Amino acid sequence: MSRLDSFINRMTAQRDILNHIRDALSLPDGAVLEVGLGNGRTYSHLRENFGDRRIVVFDRQFAAHKTLAPEPEDFIEGEIRETGQGFVGKGAALVHSDIGTGYPEKDAITLQWLPDMVAGMLTEGGIAVSGLPLSHPQLEELPRLPNVEEGRYFYYRKTV
Ligand SMILES: C[S@@+](CC[C@H](N)C(=O)[O-])C[C@H]1O[C@@H](n2cnc3c(N)ncnc32)[C@H](O)[C@@H]1O
Repeated sequence: MSRLDSFINRMTAQRDILNHIRDALSLPDGAVLEVGLGNGRTYSHLRENFGDRRIVVFDRQFAAHKTLAPEPEDFIEGEIRETGQGFVGKGAALVHSDIGTGYPEKDAITLQWLPDMVAGMLTEGGIAVSGLPLSHPQLEELPRLPNVEEGRYFYYRKTV
């Protein structure tokens, strides 16, 4: 598969899962966390579809389109492994994480801390959406959408 096709599949999966959550799943009260702002495409989609909630974004630096600048208190700059700790236990409703690199050895390091952090960020019943698989006893994988390729993108409901 070309890298273009792979990119398109990833973006389509993100959008379709987020739209499915909006249209068909219940979300508890709480903020939305965008873990890995990048150039802000997904953040823009989150704002359009979950704009009635606080949306907090994380990245090493702000590199999104300037029209997407969040309120200063909603942009958390730095290494997510450290900055994310400040949102553990704060009861987020939805966490979207798109910080995979496509390099298995780098992603393996991220996966040493990301599942615990995401589970800790969510309130009970909250939903995690992730490009990397989040193996965690409190995260129950939700059924793959028919148009999302197996192993491409994942989403989970936080249990007790
Ligand atoms: C694939 S991009 C996200 C793309 C985003 N979904 C969009 O719509 O543009 C991943 C982003 O996460 C950031 N990132 C990855 N790992 C990080 C880490 N450990 N700490 C802080 N930022 C990180 C990178 O700087 C990059 O901007």
